[in-house]
Amino acid sequence: MKRILITGALGQIGSELTLKLREIYGTDNVIATDIKKNDSETALSGPFEVLDVTDAKAMIAIAKKYKVDSIIHLAALLSATAEAKPVFAWNLNMGGLLNALETARELKAQFFTPSSIGAFGPSTPKNATPQDTIMRPTTMYGVNKVAGELLADYYYHKFGVDTRGLRFPGLISYVTMPGGGTTDYAVEIYYDAVNTGRYTSYIDKGTYMDMMYMPDALSAIVDLMEADSSKLIHRNAFNISAMSVAPDDIAASIAKYIPGFKISYDVDPVRQRIAESWPNSIDSTAAKEEWGFKIKYDLDKMTQDMIEKLRQKRQLRISG
Ligand code: SER
Repeated sequence: MKRILITGALGQIGSELTLKLREIYGTDNVIATDIKKNDSETALSGPFEVLDVTDAKAMIAIAKKYKVDSIIHLAALLSATAEAKPVFAWNLNMGGLLNALETARELKAQFFTPSSIGAFGPSTPKNATPQDTIMRPTTMYGVNKVAGELLADYYYHKFGVDTRGLRFPGLISYVTMPGGGTTDYAVEIYYDAVNTGRYTSYIDKGTYMDMMYMPDALSAIVDLMEADSSKLIHRNAFNISAMSVAPDDIAASIAKYIPGFKISYDVDPVRQRIAESWPNSIDSTAAKEEWGFKIKYDLDKMTQDMIEKLRQKRQLRISG
């Protein structure tokens, strides 16, 4: 990667990935795009273009203008929003992906897009879910993710585009809130813990899903993109996870640092059903073997860092 175009750069992953890539590859070599500009550091600290990913011509024009050699396509709707607006989700998630792959083909660019634990479904083995297994998701988001994995494979085999991808678990970060995901509770719980000392979870106790702290997710993207192409057998959509946790596990971890923290439950049937259709824990062996996937943060280490960073943010807000 030398000159990188990012779509959805102001979203949950993009807002942090853009800054990390600017540090590694140079500010002017990372072109951030999103449907709207805002006044965040990500939008203001380097090249930024407004881009609707369903506009194929605009995407190719921006890619050519900056002569990019890599495309990181992040713009997409998450699971709960996609469930509420399935046709819109299909058009945005699949239309955007096809345009991004076509742009990569035309510019002979390397390509990355995330898949998700949401690509699995109720008939998938629930525990230590293998890399290669049954994939029959029951959500529009999952349908988009499986189709996206196959489409990226197709562009590699048919056109030689160097496509790569990761099946992300729920991503937890103190910087940008996710929007409309099923795993969002695992972010909200930390904000509420720091602000009020209690949290009401819309996901039921004992519901296990994979999670990962954002710094580990960002490193995984860079490591996969820099990996030796000839070593990648599963190039699109490696399972990766840092922990398999239920809301009560996160609550117990928070209570170690915020004594008296209380969790209660008011289960949202829609998101609960989505969560129950996903694996409890996925197996990351292929990612470890093929490109050396590793993590720095387990649950307690992440909890400690999240609480520290959110307290600093709160302090800045109060004093600012
Ligand atoms: N975090 C995503 C969601 O909940 C899963 O990939 O939709």
